[in-house]
Amino acid sequence: MNYGVRVQSARGAECASGRVPVVSYWEWERMARRKLPLFAFDYVAGGAGGESTIRANRRSFEQWKIVPRLMSGVSDRKLTVELFGRTYPFPIGLAPTASQGLFHGMGEVATAKAAAALGIPFILSTSSSYSIEEVASTGAPRWFQLYPGNDRDVMFSLVSRAEKAGYTAIVFTPDRPEIGWRERNIRNCLSTYIGPYASGNLRSDPVVRKKYGEPLASQAALALITNPGVTAADMQFVRSITRLPLLVKGVLHPEDAETSIRFGADGLIVSNHGGRHVDGAIAALEALPSVAMAVGSRVPVLFDSGIRHGADLFKALALGAKMAFIGRPYVYGLAVSGEIGVRTVAENLLADFDLNLGNSGIRYAAQLHKTHLVRSVCESP
Ligand code: FNR
Ligand code: LAC
Repeated sequence: MNYGVRVQSARGAECASGRVPVVSYWEWERMARRKLPLFAFDYVAGGAGGESTIRANRRSFEQWKIVPRLMSGVSDRKLTVELFGRTYPFPIGLAPTASQGLFHGMGEVATAKAAAALGIPFILSTSSSYSIEEVASTGAPRWFQLYPGNDRDVMFSLVSRAEKAGYTAIVFTPDRPEIGWRERNIRNCLSTYIGPYASGNLRSDPVVRKKYGEPLASQAALALITNPGVTAADMQFVRSITRLPLLVKGVLHPEDAETSIRFGADGLIVSNHGGRHVDGAIAALEALPSVAMAVGSRVPVLFDSGIRHGADLFKALALGAKMAFIGRPYVYGLAVSGEIGVRTVAENLLADFDLNLGNSGIRYAAQLHKTHLVRSVCESP
């Protein structure tokens, strides 16, 4: 039985037992809004300035339409993807999102358990509530996201800890030299560096403790995760300290893709950080074809920003992404019901994707190609 059908019947069984399944992104978001304090909900939902980039991310998906094909024999679909010498069962992963203890008591540990149950990669943020080692103990497929901070000893220490704890890739994120102008956070008197929730890794780091003492002051912590002086030399530094696959997250311009590859990137993530740092930035999906074209087959191109449904994943893969990541959708699942919430969000999205794939006449996710889409002239409302 194909994946989508299995999940559909599991949801049917929930109905039969008297439970009402939570299904769409908007429902998860609404439930999370009810459950979380306003400042926490706004932190997830919000973005930079007038939040036009968040809206652009959504609109960009509507501008592509799928052209389904008939009579293709799609009874044995395969969703697997090969990346960095591993086979993942599904072409999605969980994007790094900071401070998950704010949304659920088990924070990143709950998220990682859901990733482990599905076999999909979870990218742990530098600014997590739980530490590199605590998350590793879940056994989830795990990558580590590294902010270029102002202290290379600390970057070295974090990367070494990730290597030792079995993380299989480093995701370098130079896309926010400064924290963006976030109107909701400012109004809610919330610093994006949310003290204890954001410092699970820093507080547990031997180099941080030795150099900065305990308790770690907020200003010092913020400087360890933001660096307005970031240049390609910081990436070269990270390249020099690890043999793990190195990905650069936040690529939106083909020339930045070139630079990243020149300095040793093994993969790129096309992303605008979910519209959280540059208001008015190009939609990540709009940037994807030109980056994918420039990169060709040299390194895998991955994607995040704006994925809410299976069709969005379909379109991102068709436009050149090998795997795509979700951010807010699973954070809402986490807020509403912890590990099960994250898992259900991912399962629903994958089931939706799988059924879209089959009903479009495509057997293998890896076969998705630009020829399965057309640019639409019908503007969605
Ligand atoms: C993020 N994102 C992020 N990215 C990163 O590299 N390090 C981080 O610590 C964070 N923190 C963070 C917190 C929250 C609450 C959100 C929503 C996002 C960005 C994230 O990895 C990803 O790029 C976007 O979330 C993708 O967009 P969608 O799926 O949220 O639209
Ligand atoms: C954010 C930071 C932590 O997007 O990257 O909130």
